[in-house]
Amino acid sequence: MSSEVTSKRADALRRALDDHNHRYYVLDDPSVSDAEYDALFRELSDLEAAHPELQTPDSPTQRVGAAPLGQFEAVTHAVPMLSLGNAFDADELADFDRQVSERLDASETITYVAEPKLDGLAVSLRYEHGVFVQGATRGDGKTGENVTQNLKTIRSLPLRLRGENPPAVLEVRGEVFMSLAAFQANNERLLAADQKPFVNPRNAAAGGLRQLDSKKTAERQLSIFCYSLGEVSDDAEVPSTQYDLFAWLQAFGFPTNGETKRCQGHAQCYAFYEALSAKRATLPYEIDGVVFKVDELRLQKELGQRSRAPRWAIAQKFPAEEVTTTLQAIEWQVGRTGALTPVARLQPVFVGGVTVTNATLHNIDEIERKDVRVDDTVVVRRAGDVIPEVARVVLEDRSKNSKKTELPTTCPVCGSDVKRADGDVVARCTGALTCDAQRREGIKHFASRRAMDVDGLGNKLVEQLVDEGLIQSYADLFTLTAEQLVQLPRMAEKSANNLIAAISTAKDTTLARFVFALGVREVGETTASSLADHFGSLEALMNASIEELEAVNDVGPVAATSVHDFFNQQANVDAVMSMMDAGVTFPTPLESAADAVEQTLEGHTYVLTGTLADGLTRDEAKAMLQQLGAKVSGSVSKKTTGLIAGEKAGSKLTKAESLGVPVLDDADLQALLAPLKR
Ligand code: IVH
Repeated sequence: MSSEVTSKRADALRRALDDHNHRYYVLDDPSVSDAEYDALFRELSDLEAAHPELQTPDSPTQRVGAAPLGQFEAVTHAVPMLSLGNAFDADELADFDRQVSERLDASETITYVAEPKLDGLAVSLRYEHGVFVQGATRGDGKTGENVTQNLKTIRSLPLRLRGENPPAVLEVRGEVFMSLAAFQANNERLLAADQKPFVNPRNAAAGGLRQLDSKKTAERQLSIFCYSLGEVSDDAEVPSTQYDLFAWLQAFGFPTNGETKRCQGHAQCYAFYEALSAKRATLPYEIDGVVFKVDELRLQKELGQRSRAPRWAIAQKFPAEEVTTTLQAIEWQVGRTGALTPVARLQPVFVGGVTVTNATLHNIDEIERKDVRVDDTVVVRRAGDVIPEVARVVLEDRSKNSKKTELPTTCPVCGSDVKRADGDVVARCTGALTCDAQRREGIKHFASRRAMDVDGLGNKLVEQLVDEGLIQSYADLFTLTAEQLVQLPRMAEKSANNLIAAISTAKDTTLARFVFALGVREVGETTASSLADHFGSLEALMNASIEELEAVNDVGPVAATSVHDFFNQQANVDAVMSMMDAGVTFPTPLESAADAVEQTLEGHTYVLTGTLADGLTRDEAKAMLQQLGAKVSGSVSKKTTGLIAGEKAGSKLTKAESLGVPVLDDADLQALLAPLKR
C-alpha cells in the first residue's frame, strides 16, 4: 500500500509537471530544463508503477501509452457543433453586418471579435469537476467520435483545469491542427523511413486524430487552439463576451490564438482580414481565412442559428489558390440522380496543398461560357476541402488543335437518352435504375455516413459488390450473406462477418436518415429531417399528397413533386417495403409524437448516469423523458428533480447525495415512462 507521503508526493509531482507543461506548451515560457522535467516525469512514472492505485486518469503520464482501440465510440454532442457561413468579399461581409444589425434592431455599430480561421478539425473537450473526461470530433455536428486518448497526446491540452473550483461540467471547443514545424518534422521522419510524406498539415492532423493507436497520434505532435463553449453547468461564471472568453479559457490552462482582435463594424473587420492576409505567410500554422463573431454572448444567443450555422458568426475565406496546367480530356460522369457532370482530366498539378488530376467543369453551360476546350491551358483553382475547378482558359496560349466539347446525346455509361429539362442547366441520363452508374452512386449514398451509416461499406467495396453481381440496388444489401461476401477477392471471413454485422446495425436507424438515404431528388438532409418530423411515420409520408408535402417547412413545389413521384413508382415502393421486411426500423420522431403525448414531466429536470436496465441506453431514456416534456441535463445541481442512477453510477451519484437530490432507480424510471407505454 502507498503511504500518505507517497500519495502526496505523486500529487505534487503531477501538479509540478502540469505547471511545466503549461509553461512550455501554452505560455512558451519554460522555467526548467528538459532534463529537470524528464527527471520529475520519471519519478512520477516510477511511483505510479510501484503503486498503481496512485495513478489518476489526468496524470501527465497518461498522455501516451493507452491500449489501442478497436474502433471509436459515438459521442452525442449535448450542444450541437455548428459550421460557418462564408463571405467571399467585402460586400458580403457588409451584408452580414447589416443583417446582424437589422435582426438585433441595433442603432449602434456592432462589435465583433476577429479570429484566424485555423485549417484543422473542430473538437469538443469535456471536463467534469476539472478533469478531462472526454474529447470528441465534430462528426456531423450532432454525433462525433470519441477520440479522448488521441487528444490527451496534445501536450498543450490541459488534462486537469488550472485554478480552484472548476465548474461541474465545462465543454470547450477548439481546433486541432498541425503546426508547420510539426508538419516538416513529420515529413522528414516519414521520408527517412522510406514512407510517403503527408500532402498537407490539415490531412496529417485529421489522419492523426483518427488513429486507433494513440501512440501514432502522439508522433504527429498535434496542437490545439480553443475558441468556444459547449455544455456548461450553471455553476460556471462564463464571461459576457467572446473576447473575454479567451482570457477565461486561458486561466483554466487552455491555449488560445494570439491573433484575435475586437473590431467595430464591418469596415474594421475587413481591415483585420487584409492585415491578416498580409501576415499569413509568416504564421507558424496554416489558416484559410478569418472568423468574425458578434462579441456579446447575449446577442449571439438572441441571433440564434440557421440549420447548421450560427447567425452571429461568419467566415471570410482567403481566395483560392490558382495555378495553370493543360486540360487533356473532358469526360462525363453520371451521378446518383443521372446528372451528367463534365470532368476535366488535367496534367497533374500541385495546388492548394494537394496534387490535382481532375477538376469539375460543372455543366455544359459553364463549358460554353468559359469556352473551355480540350488541349487548352487552363487556370485551376482549389480552396480547402472544396472540389478543384477550372476557373478559366488562358486564351493567349490556345493551340490550333484545341477541340470543343458537346453534351453527349446518350449516357456514356448505359447508352440511354440524355435529356435536359427546359430551363435546367443539368442534363440527365434517363436510364434511372437501369443505369449502372446511377445504381452504384445510389448505393454509395445509401450506405454513407450521413445516410444509413453502414460502417466499413465504402465506395470501393460498393463497386466490388456491384461488379461481382452480388447486389443490384440498395435494398439488396439486406439480403447479402457472409458466404457470398467471402467469395470476393481479398475478403476474409472476419471482414465479411463484420460487414454483415454493420449492415444489420444500420437497420436500426431514424426515419430522417432513411428518407435521406433513399436518394430522392431534391431531398437533402435538412428536407429529409423536416419530412420525418412532419409526417412522423413512413406510411404517412408515402401516402402524402403534393399539397400535404408542400405544407412542410422548407419543402417547395419541386421537392414536393419529386417526393410524390418517388413514392408513386412501384419499383421504389417495392424496394422500401423489402427493406422494412428485412428489418429496417426507426423510432417515432419526438416532435411529432410529442403532440399526442401528455407532457407529464414538464418542468422537471433529470440527470441520467450509470448503466440502465433492460438494455436501455441513456440516449434512449433521454429521448423518452424529453418526449414527456422533461429536461435532461448532463450534470447534477440543486435544480435537478432527480438523478436516475443505473449500475456503476459514479461521481454524479455522490454529488446528488451531497445536494440532497432524490436518486431514482430503474423501476422509478419505468414508472416515469409509463405514459409512453399505453
Ligand atoms: S467557431 C459557431 N472559430 O471552421 C461555431 N471555427 O467552417 C463555429 N474553425 O467547424 C466554430 N477556426 O472547425 C470557429 N476561430 C474559429 C475557427 C473555426 C477554424 C473551423 C471549425 C468549424 C469550421 C466552420
